[in-house]
Amino acid sequence: MTKYTRLFAPGKIGRMELKNRIIFAPCGTHYSTMDGLVSEQQRTYYAERAKGGAGLLIIEGASCRKIGKPGRILVNEDKYIPYLKKLADVIHENGAKAVMQMSSHRGSTDEVDPASPSGMPHPFAGSASSHIIPLHPRVITPADLEQLIEEYGEAARRVMEAGFDGVMLHGANGYLPCELLSRRFNKRTDAYGGDLKGRAKFLLDMIKISREKTAPDFPVLLRLMGSDRVAKPGDDGWGIQDCVELCKLVEAAGVTSVDITSGSQETPDWTGPAWYMPPGLNVDVTTAIKKAGVKIPISVVGKIADPALAEEILTDGKADFISMARALICDPYWPKKVLEGKTDDICPCIYDKRCLEDVIVEFQPMSCTTNPLVGHEKEYAIKMERLTKKKKVLVLGGGPGGIQAAITAAQKGHDVTLFEKSDKLGGQLILAAVPPDKQDLNNYLKYLKIQLAKSDVKVKLNTEATPAAVAKFAPDSVIVAVGSTPFIPEIDGIDGKNVITCQDVLSGQKKPGQKVIVLGGGYVGCETCFYLAKKGIEVTLVFRSAEAAHDIHYWVVRKHYLDKLKEMNIKVMQGVQYRDITAKGLNLTDKDGKAVFLEADTVILAAGATPNKALGEALKGKYLEFAQIGDCVEPRRIREAVEEGIWAAAAI
Ligand SMILES: Cc1cc2nc3c(=O)[nH]c(=O)nc-3n(C[C@H](O)[C@H](O)[C@H](O)COP(=O)(O)OP(=O)(O)OC[C@H]3O[C@@H](n4cnc5c(N)ncnc54)[C@H](O)[C@@H]3O)c2cc1C
Ligand SMILES: Cc1cc2nc3c(=O)[nH]c(=O)nc-3n(C[C@H](O)[C@H](O)[C@H](O)COP(=O)(O)O)c2cc1C
Ligand code: SF4
Repeated sequence: MTKYTRLFAPGKIGRMELKNRIIFAPCGTHYSTMDGLVSEQQRTYYAERAKGGAGLLIIEGASCRKIGKPGRILVNEDKYIPYLKKLADVIHENGAKAVMQMSSHRGSTDEVDPASPSGMPHPFAGSASSHIIPLHPRVITPADLEQLIEEYGEAARRVMEAGFDGVMLHGANGYLPCELLSRRFNKRTDAYGGDLKGRAKFLLDMIKISREKTAPDFPVLLRLMGSDRVAKPGDDGWGIQDCVELCKLVEAAGVTSVDITSGSQETPDWTGPAWYMPPGLNVDVTTAIKKAGVKIPISVVGKIADPALAEEILTDGKADFISMARALICDPYWPKKVLEGKTDDICPCIYDKRCLEDVIVEFQPMSCTTNPLVGHEKEYAIKMERLTKKKKVLVLGGGPGGIQAAITAAQKGHDVTLFEKSDKLGGQLILAAVPPDKQDLNNYLKYLKIQLAKSDVKVKLNTEATPAAVAKFAPDSVIVAVGSTPFIPEIDGIDGKNVITCQDVLSGQKKPGQKVIVLGGGYVGCETCFYLAKKGIEVTLVFRSAEAAHDIHYWVVRKHYLDKLKEMNIKVMQGVQYRDITAKGLNLTDKDGKAVFLEADTVILAAGATPNKALGEALKGKYLEFAQIGDCVEPRRIREAVEEGIWAAAAI
């Protein structure tokens, strides 16, 4: 019997009966074919999430418009109905209900036809994500809006004919419906502007036509922006109270339920909250909606991955359903595992937003750091079934890549041993979790360690792999995962006693003075600054490139790094050339060519990493099955190490 009785209580969204309160929130995957068809990869991905136990799956925003978008599911012509039906069927066969989210127009950031309510550009105009955000969107006309409504209605009909249990209208994430709702973006004086009813006309028309083109009781769900998280009470943005009033309007207009997210494209920290944002961050909105007496079911999304938090939200009546996106990307079996009390086996999300980087920034198929199998479920199953002979597998290095490789090889039935030269498992992941707000990484390391402990892998700590030790062990297969070491730049004085690495600092092995220079402006350098500044140490960050955190995309999290450097009063000097390090500090040439001396007690290096290639080079060619994975190939990030680890092991 589960203690999460509310979470696993059946619930109803209109005529749709759900076996529990867990909804898989819509997530664009870019797994469709380039012609907009639901691919086999996509069906397997959704089937897996249905098998995992969620009551309802909301399928990613499909395109209803005549002008389609490659990589998206298309619902703009009847010819797509059979493909959509196959998707609805596979979800039903695996025990969940299926609703299709329908996206229409992204307003000022639309890739195909940038247009906004009053021709106002997006605040990020000129910057790039999957495309350059235009500086001059056109003013959307009433005829355009009417055509979009018509397209929406037809798409809703197709979704119903394909056997889906409902449609979800997309009125969130800052897209056109949100720009129309916002007084800041909508200065129109026609029927689509003015008071809330006018600004909501497009949404209300979407609801009306979806009803007309489907059936009176066909579930029409609506996703809304709970607040743009910019507006202050009384100003011209979109605040919580505006959303409460809108919920009353859409309820009266016949919408079946409302799903609440928040943030606009201007505030991506809210639409896709990263590790430094709080859990359950949209519950403030749903609490206000429930208090205002809205009767239709309300669901809430946003960093809800802890079953206790989900249960509390439901018990306190702050929402009726819990929507989860990334928790179920990382582990589609989250619901089943919670129900069976196997929470230690849940692969956690670390909220690093690399999935969003793929989909929104790179326009690539979605991948996930902690779950490298996402979108590759079928390929993996085939590889794992293919075991010809039990082999003696030796994994060298106990960082995330090595641990994952060892677990996978053991799951495949091999006899696996892991050598780790230090006295603990985790590699650089241990240090990665030290800077402020990054403790989600500890959950991931804990998960990896638990899975390793549950496997049959023989772990040998304090065991350095050398060519001789490996030869003595006589393995059939070797996976080298020995990571990287800090890169030491060639600067006069770099050998001085006052020079240490960020790894020395974050591991607590060396103590810096009260006034320090961090040399290297990538995200690791920035995080080291945050760590030190939080301890009250005076920090100056110096680096050669033009902007701090250049190795992280702005739309994803770089803005956070830049804001935090300011907020924590960290002095930043970019575009510098290093001259030499003395016992008293650092001589450099600043970006204007001026010689500058920066006084400091300690110079802390965060200048990147060098792959540990020697062992791999020495072992290469000596073993029939041999792979090198992760940072020892090239220093990158956790995702690459884990992904390469899993596939190297699955191939044995
Ligand atoms: C401060 C910091 C913050 C970071 N933050 C992030 C982040 O937020 N997100 C992200 O994705 N990445 C982050 N990274 C990078 C990430 O940690 C690495 O990319 C990742 O850990 C690489 O994994 P790996 O398994 O390839 O190697 P490692 O993690 O380096 O593990 C290698 C292991 O091999 C062991 N080893 C070495 N030589 C031998 C030998 N001869 N015999 C036996 N064992 C040996 C080492 O002791 C170590 O345990 C961060 C890195 C640092 C330093
Ligand atoms: C890769 C990815 C793609 C997304 N695509 C969509 C989408 O198509 N439509 C939408 O309304 N929200 C989309 N979202 C937002 C999620 O539905 C969800 O609101 C957000 O991730 C916060 O919830 P979480 O913390 O549970 O992940 C996407 C999120 C991710 C991570
Ligand atoms: S890529 Fe990162 S944020 Fe996205 S689902 Fe995976 S772990 Fe979570």
